[in-house]
Amino acid sequence: MSELFCPHCMKSVSPQTRFCPVCGNGIEVNAPAHHLPVGTVLRSGNGHSFLFGIVKGEGGFGLTYIGKELTSGRLVAIKEYFPSRCQPQRMQDASIRPQERFEEVYEHGIQSFLSEASMLRAVAHLPSIVHVLDYFEANHTAYMVMEYLEGSTLYHMMQSQERIPAQVLIPKFLPLLYDLGNLHKAGVLHRDIAPDNIMWMPDGSLKLLDFGCARSLEDGRSMTVVLKPGFAPIEQYQTRGQGSYTDLYAICATLYYCITGKVPPASPERLTTTFDNQPDPLVPPSALGVSMPPEQEQILMWGLSLQPSVRPQNMETLASRLEETLIKMTQMSVTQMSVTKMFDVPEQTGGGEVMNNGYPAETPMPPAKVKSFRLPLAIAITGAVVIAAVVLLCLL
Ligand SMILES: Nc1ncnc2c1ncn2[C@@H]1O[C@H](COP(=O)(O)OP(=O)(O)O)[C@@H](O)[C@H]1O
Ligand SMILES: [Mg+2]
Repeated sequence: MSELFCPHCMKSVSPQTRFCPVCGNGIEVNAPAHHLPVGTVLRSGNGHSFLFGIVKGEGGFGLTYIGKELTSGRLVAIKEYFPSRCQPQRMQDASIRPQERFEEVYEHGIQSFLSEASMLRAVAHLPSIVHVLDYFEANHTAYMVMEYLEGSTLYHMMQSQERIPAQVLIPKFLPLLYDLGNLHKAGVLHRDIAPDNIMWMPDGSLKLLDFGCARSLEDGRSMTVVLKPGFAPIEQYQTRGQGSYTDLYAICATLYYCITGKVPPASPERLTTTFDNQPDPLVPPSALGVSMPPEQEQILMWGLSLQPSVRPQNMETLASRLEETLIKMTQMSVTQMSVTKMFDVPEQTGGGEVMNNGYPAETPMPPAKVKSFRLPLAIAITGAVVIAAVVLLCLL
């Protein structure tokens, strides 16, 4: 491709440009040798061609590049299967070779990666899950093409603020919890939910990304996963026994971290203290000064139960229970507003606006009752007429 582009944001640039006028980054990059060279173009089985930019993230399972679909010009994120535990090497022709003894595991991983991409593409209607647009095999590895998300991860957001208020975050989490429930029903577990894998979008919604560790629920084989202490539940330290409640713990841990600013204690540490008859080192958010309704806090702590069987067993239970607390809070605030209105004490404001019996000054007063003088007047007249008649009769 002859057109020059910025490898950081994929925008076209003119030949003399050294710094991108859009994102400000240098056009020249010195990428590590195991990355695909900037400017690589790969074609999927669906006939789409993708231009590769720089690597935006490098985890245990793969490399995530920024890219562009050449026909539409659409910005994409492309994940390349590159499992570090297979000690892969990038060859001269850009293909990947794992260490010989890991060849079988590596091949199996490619198939899992592709079947996962296919399952994710089938749930591309779920707004809180990153949309998979395409997937294909090339370079003796596999690629998953996703919509490019112009957001900031919760992890990044927490670098610039101490906490995110629970009242702000919990309503934002609800759609994500419901979508995650649907994802579980489709047979996909995430297994690596943490603040760095949830994107806060410019419209304020949240999106879950990084399905590198995800694996079909039906697949009995276990996979080595690099666990994130504080976010991974106890069953992830074992090879079996994972389910919807595994992601549920991780999402509650993420919520806990964002509203308290503290990473929950790692689950093995919690387990050890329980064996020693010591109190659970995971303290409720209110003990850290977080303001949230006790009912909401109880639900969050329920999701963070150490024992998988004690937790809510699916995302819908967690989501609907949290939703109930939000509805209750809204109803309470509406009632409170109307009670406040009913007992509003009339005040004279600093501006000198006089309240009119508790109504604003401009409100017309209800008509006052006018005293009637008609009856006494009639009695007096009748009396006078009677007296005059008696006097007249006496005189005659
Ligand atoms: N769809 C996407 N859109 C935009 N940026 C993305 C997307 N997917 C990943 N990224 C960026 O790349 C980083 C790493 O990607 P991720 O999928 O989490 O892989 P890993 O954590 O295994 O490196 C993310 O934190 C995010 O900044
Ligand atoms: Mg990640």
